Order: sequence, then C-alpha cells, then structure tokens
Amino acid sequence: MCGIVGVLGTHEVAPLILESLKRLEYRGYDSAGIATVNTGRLDRRRAVGKLINLSDLLVHEPLAGKAGIGHTRWATHGEANVKNAHPHSSGPVTVVHNGIIENFRTLREELASVGLGHETDTDTETIALLTRHLMEQGMDPEAAVRETLARLDGAFALAFIFEGHDDLMIGARKGSPLAVGWGDGEMYLGSDAIALAPMTDRITYLDEGDWVVLTRGGATFYDFAGNRVNRDVSVIRLDQTRVDKGGHRHFMAKEIAEQPSVLGAGLAFHLSPDGKTIAFPPEVDFRGIDRVTMVACGTGHYATQVAKYWFEQIAGLPCDTDIASEFRYREPVLSDKGMGIFVSQSGETADTLAALRYVDGKLSRTVGVVNVSTSSIARESDVALPILAGPEISVASTKGFTAQLLVLLLLALKAAHDRGRLDDAGLAEKLAELRMLPGILAQALDRESEIEALAHKISSAKDVLFLGRGVMYPLALEAALKLKELSYIHAEGYASGELKHGPIALIDEVMPVVVLAPRDALYDKTVSNMQEVMARLGKVILISDRKGLDEAGKVWGTLTMPNVPSLIAPIVYAVPAQMLAYHTALARGTDVDQPRNLAKSVTVE
Ligand code: F6R
Repeated sequence: MCGIVGVLGTHEVAPLILESLKRLEYRGYDSAGIATVNTGRLDRRRAVGKLINLSDLLVHEPLAGKAGIGHTRWATHGEANVKNAHPHSSGPVTVVHNGIIENFRTLREELASVGLGHETDTDTETIALLTRHLMEQGMDPEAAVRETLARLDGAFALAFIFEGHDDLMIGARKGSPLAVGWGDGEMYLGSDAIALAPMTDRITYLDEGDWVVLTRGGATFYDFAGNRVNRDVSVIRLDQTRVDKGGHRHFMAKEIAEQPSVLGAGLAFHLSPDGKTIAFPPEVDFRGIDRVTMVACGTGHYATQVAKYWFEQIAGLPCDTDIASEFRYREPVLSDKGMGIFVSQSGETADTLAALRYVDGKLSRTVGVVNVSTSSIARESDVALPILAGPEISVASTKGFTAQLLVLLLLALKAAHDRGRLDDAGLAEKLAELRMLPGILAQALDRESEIEALAHKISSAKDVLFLGRGVMYPLALEAALKLKELSYIHAEGYASGELKHGPIALIDEVMPVVVLAPRDALYDKTVSNMQEVMARLGKVILISDRKGLDEAGKVWGTLTMPNVPSLIAPIVYAVPAQMLAYHTALARGTDVDQPRNLAKSVTVE
C-alpha cells in the first residue's frame, strides 16, 4: 500500500529509484513519481497509472540529481491523477507518504488561515505545507519535521527532501513500515527490504514512532519523544528478496507453482528431524489455554476459518475467528487464559496490527503467523511463527494462504497433543499425512489443462457461486474471493447447506455453481445440495476425487483431484481454486498480478 524509496547517492539517482519502485509496485499502482534535489534545486516527475508511464516520461524529461525520493501510490484521498500523485511539494519541502493523516482537514483549515492553500485533494500535501510553514517561521528542516510529526494523527511512513540540501533526507514511521539501508557513502530509505535489495543488504528497521535524519555519512535515529536512540543494523538474506518470475508468465503462476516446495520448506522447518514432533518455540504451549482467538483479513481470515474446524475438531479447543477490521469494535469478550493468533502474510496489515495491540494484556499470549519475519506483527507478537513462503509479489495471495494453513494445522495438532487429545503415536501419524503435502500438491498442480477448460466455461459468466461444507466452506469463500479479485466476475461462496435458505433463488440455467466436495464424511450431504441446484437446471462444476466424481453422476463440468487425507484436503483444494481464478483472468484478459483497485500490504484502516 504505497511504496516509498529514497536515495542519497553518489551517482544520478532517478534510475535507481525507478528500479526500486518496480520492486514496490505491488504496493500500489495508481500513479508514481520521483523528485530529486540537484545542486539545491527541487524537481519532480509524476505520471498516472502503472510505473511504465513514469518510466516513459523520464525518457523524454530526465531528472538529474544525486538525492531523491520516489513513490508508487494506492489512492486514499483524491482520485488517481497527476495532481494528486506523490511526491508533494510546497516551497522548500518535498515529501512522499504511505498511510493516512486523519486530522488533515483541521490542519488544512489552519494552514489556509495563514495563506497556505492546497492545490491537491490529498492529505499528504498538508504535511508538505505544514513543514514549509514551520521552516518559514525560522526552523531548520530537522526541527520543522519534528514539529510536523508531533501534529500528525494517523498512520504514516514519510520521506522528505529539501531545497538547498543535497545531503539530507528525513524519514519517519508511525503505523506504516520504513527501513533505512546502509551503502558505501550512500544511504537509502524504503518501505521494505525488497525495495532496497539491489542497493544493500544492510538494513535498519525503524521502530514505531521513530524518525531518522540521513546524510551520506550515516543515520541519526530519534524516538517519538525526540530522544536520540540506537537501532540495530541487520544483514538480510538476499534470497528472501528475490523478485523475478522465474520463467513464468506472471508472479501468480510462479507462486502457485512454488507451493510444493514452500510447504516442504515449512514442514522441514517446523518439524523435528525425524518428522514425528512439532518444533515450535516453548511459548507455543496450549496447556492451560481455554480459548483460541484468531484474527486476520481477507485470505488470511479464510485460513483462520479453516483452522477453527481444526482447533475444535482435533484439539477440542473453543475457537473464535474475527475479521480484523471488526474485532476491536465488537468489544470481544476475551479470556486471560486465551491465546491470540494473528495471521498476516505481510505482517503489516493495519487492521490486524491494531487488533494485536488491542489485545495487549488481555490474553495469556499472542502468536503471529507471518511471512515477513521482520514485520510489525512478527515483532509485536509474543511469538512469531514464520510461514516461510518467500516473497509473495502477486497481489492475490496463493502460496501465502497454503503456507498459513500449514502452520495453523500444526498449531491445532500441537494443541491436541498438549491437551492430551493426541498421544505421541497419534501425533506422528497425523504428521505423516502432512508430510504427503508436497507430493499431493504437485499432483494437484498437474490438473492445469482440465482447469483451463473449466476457466474457459466460466469466463463469460456474470456471476459464479462456490459451495462447500465443513472445511470446504471457507475454501468456497476463498475461491470466490480469488475469482472476483482477479477476473472481476461477481462471485460468492456459500456453505452448501445454507443454499436453500435464500441463495437458491439465484440458481438458473446460466450461472455456474462450483462445488468443492472431496469424498469425505460430508460428501453425501454436499452432493444432495448439489442435486438441489441441478433440479433447478443449475450448471454445476464438481471438484472432487475420482470416487466422488463417479458417485455424483453427470454434471456440467468436473475437475478430478488426487485422493487426499481429509486432514490436508483444504490445503490441496486451494490449488484448483487459485488456478481456476488465474486461468479465468487470463481468458478475460485482466491484469493478473496487479488487479484494479487493489494493493498488497494494506497499511491503512
Ligand atoms: C487476497 C489477499 C488479501 C490479503 C489481506 C490480508 O488475495 O491477498 O485478502 O489476504 O489483505 O493481507 P495480509 O495477510 O498481508 O495481512
């Protein structure tokens, strides 16, 4: 959600910044811009739409300077046009921003009363105007930024440059991530390590409320109260920041294909060498825990909905799942013997982070299930369990989802073992089923041509319904989310037993109804619901294993899945859901990796 880059360099910086913005484009792609300070003079270029438009503009109107900041935008305040694109400038100040300034209207009025009117519809311009105003009162850039930050409510990551200062950049972080990169005689700022990876592997993450003054000679860090503080430099693993399509047409295709190896790596990391026990840190202990509360957004939330079945069925542990944006506002009743599990691929989702902060002191402990181990949720949870999916660049989550499911399943099994519902042999038996995952996922990936044919069938639909029962119900929700975000086809997921309570009114001879039904204990019931659809001439696509398909009889379309133990079925059935959405998007010619209106890592509420 908005990407930020800053470079105090020894060579021309515009090409470097552009390169880094390419690596951040997944965070937003409504518009992009770069500003530099060149022998004291500020200049900027901005373009609407994808980064390629900015890149083209720079060919015709190059931007000189060895210090600069860049931005790729996911619009919050003000439509996506050049005027509203970052960087925003006023007088001697230029700034880029990720986040939302909640009190910008009050500040706007205040600034207007001293003759500083706004030219854009953004909240960000207020920051530039306020800093300018303070500089006009005689403050130097550092003091003016310090004062500005104290006046801002909301969430932000900011990078400033200043007229007349070729060797100065100021960054600030509150609620949105920001990292400092250390080079040789160069310094950098970036929304994440991925952005800075081509330039350096030495990174310092700003803590919440920190701000930093950079010169080419180094960085001085301050906390929110203005005290000078030391922050550690860590050396990041560059293989964790590789951003390439690996020969695939899209990041999404690559990330779908990576799932057998991602889950293999997750199992290798989280299991003991003999594969018979779970090697979580000692704090992940369910003895004495009376309830699990899981919080996440979007796809992560559907992973927790699957996990609810696991915690209750396998471990007998009461379990709630919440959408993070609702959690705090419903005033949940929490138990001081409860465990909170916060699931987030990025580890930066504002609502999930706010929910984690909300439970502080109200639960026995918190566990973050995250992909980015340096993220805020990882750092602020009592324990962070990595899902080890590697960088997920496609805006639609795929390998993140299955890797989250794996860690959640391991948590449920650990709970069952800790609570005496599974003995050592029982646990080892279940883990043996999990160790089948890489192989079975590879078989599921093999169904590509069948899925392409189905995608072709649904690509002209206006609406699609997904049905499932038990653990396949959240899978139906996830399949519908994937289809709508990628192909823009309206799709809904329903618990198949719920159909007759309303949605069955939608069934006609046009709308495809995709049924997820492995031949498990609930199969017969799901197939009865499917028959109700077919009796109304509904067009059913059945995704099941060989036996399930044979028993179901003739339907409009089928997809044959491998035979799967019920325990791991939701992880395996995620693959056809993802591939169906991917191929439908291809058939409709939509932008697979960067669907309209979306951004990865949603750092605003
Ligand atoms: C959908 C998708 C989103 C994310 C959601 C949470 O494909 O990717 O729904 O799952 O925005 O993001 P994280 O997991 O980063 O907290």
